[in-house]
Amino acid sequence: MPFGVAYRKKRKKLTYSGYLKISELLQLQSLLSKPEAHDEMLFIIIHQVYELWFKQLLHELDAISRCLNHGETLDAHRLLRRCIEIERVLIAQISVLETMTPVDFLDFRDNLMPASGFQSAQFREIEFLGGLKNSGYLKNFGKNSKGWKQLQKRLNALSLWESFLNLLIRKGFSITKNRELQAQELKKIYEQADQHYDLFLLTESLIEFDELFSRWRLIHVQMVERMIGSKTGTGGTEGVGYLKSTLEKKFFPQLWELRTHIKKNDSATLKRRIKQK
Ligand code: HEM
Repeated sequence: MPFGVAYRKKRKKLTYSGYLKISELLQLQSLLSKPEAHDEMLFIIIHQVYELWFKQLLHELDAISRCLNHGETLDAHRLLRRCIEIERVLIAQISVLETMTPVDFLDFRDNLMPASGFQSAQFREIEFLGGLKNSGYLKNFGKNSKGWKQLQKRLNALSLWESFLNLLIRKGFSITKNRELQAQELKKIYEQADQHYDLFLLTESLIEFDELFSRWRLIHVQMVERMIGSKTGTGGTEGVGYLKSTLEKKFFPQLWELRTHIKKNDSATLKRRIKQK
């Protein structure tokens, strides 16, 4: 009888801080600078908040993959809209960090070596799950460490894109391995949007998710350049030069490519339907 009166009496009264483990959470900011650099607290908290949002993103993206695998397109779409709103938060947060000046940062930067966001396992998991699988990044993680194992798992699992393509195949699309042909086939989602309206909504949200992730990359590199100029990164890369080389990364390149092939389509009934109303 877990939900009876006796159970409620026996269970300790739940509190806000107990449920959310607030005191544990507030113990997790250990500054390294001595004497204490004022801005190190901001630096730690902002990274921790990012990692929490990455955790939530992975939680949602895994659920989206499951929805796609079960043909639940609109559920996948609804959760993807949530991911997009989270990405907006990730982008907005950068400006808080930009209230720190390069001089403030140098107060504690040396203590960070050789740690860097470059070693964020969850960030790489999001990349891998999105389809940007690159086993080369595994060498930044201790073999058999938690991060390494998670990334190995992601390398072997279906990416979001693969789950999406499988869904399309089940819906009768003719999907081959050839990227160019995929883009040609996918444009049908746009040209016949009224027949595949759920797919049309999902596809537009997928490209928005991709676009906002790229926007985060861009705003991060601009912030980094403003902060450290052309100094090398604490993680050992050349810094801004490396980050600029990642700006062309796309989760779903075919969705960008198909736009080139879309033709004016007078028989697009979706358009007609809107006009008639
Ligand atoms: C003062 C603030 C920051 C500076 C100066 C900075 C600098 C850098 C640099 C130079 C790199 C290239 C790798 C290396 O370290 O050699 C990098 C990578 C990265 N940083 Fe930052 N960063 C800052 C804040 C953040 C924040 C708040 C996050 C949020 C999680 C973050 C996440 C990342 C990620 C995920 C990468 C890897 C990107 C990739 O490989 O595509 N960084 N950062």
